[in-house]
Amino acid sequence: MLNLELQEAIERAAQLLKSSRYRIALTGAGMSVESGIPPFRGTGGLWTKLGEPPMTGYQTFLQDPKAWWENRLSDDQPSEMTDFQLALANATPNNGHYALATLETMGFLQYLITQNVDGLHTDAGSQNVAEIHGNTQKLRCIGCGFRIHRDEFVISEVPPICPECGNIIKSDGVMFGEPIPSATLSICQEETLKADCILILGTSATVHPAASLPEIVYRNGGNLIEVNPESTQLSSFCNVNLFGNTGEVLPALISILSKSRNQ
Ligand code: APR
Repeated sequence: MLNLELQEAIERAAQLLKSSRYRIALTGAGMSVESGIPPFRGTGGLWTKLGEPPMTGYQTFLQDPKAWWENRLSDDQPSEMTDFQLALANATPNNGHYALATLETMGFLQYLITQNVDGLHTDAGSQNVAEIHGNTQKLRCIGCGFRIHRDEFVISEVPPICPECGNIIKSDGVMFGEPIPSATLSICQEETLKADCILILGTSATVHPAASLPEIVYRNGGNLIEVNPESTQLSSFCNVNLFGNTGEVLPALISILSKSRNQ
């Protein structure tokens, strides 16, 4: 049950969405906590347990892709990582993911940029989605950007070789120290420049360039709406702060928008 203060804030968020022209969303790991996937930071976070990974993961991969793949395919990962991989494999969309797909259908969300690699927004039916940190189900060539679902690619050698250009294939997930694939980054920047309203959902807003997208909307005079049980470094720049879980707040936002549409 949402308290009165939160319900009034959701009403204000609904008004902002209705009065805006081009709304986008930036989502983070908090969106998928109610699907059983732990966040990275804060309570129960993966990095909270394991420590933040080094910022040079990509450089380490490039130095010895064969060793990286051998380690990846071996089963001597730390238990927290295998638990995380299991949670990813078993997760299904929660009410927050479905609410965003409905928001898009209603015309109150034009584009969704997610930092999550779990694919749950697409599974829930969202159409206009950019996965700025990639997708754990996919593989990608570091040369030509060729991407393929991992179930459609037989790893016959390590490191696997791109069938298109002969360069090395890696996991699609963007590693620390790896540039965001340029085509994906361009889409995210273009969509952000079009936006006069951004929903900031379940992210600690600590990893760039994703965390800088709300700042662009702010500098362009747009509206910022944050949903997070805790405050973040973006909270003070937001027009509305919804201190709650996305799995509860976003469905409440939909029901308010649906009611006002039917009046
Ligand atoms: N609903 C909404 N927000 C939640 C919920 C919930 N149910 N549960 C937790 N949160 C919030 C936390 O308060 C926190 O602010 O979600 C945020 C999760 O922050 P992070 O774990 O840092 O995740 P994220 O912001 O997505 O991290 C960005 O860091 O390690 C990299 O590549 C990784 O994409 C990830 C990036």
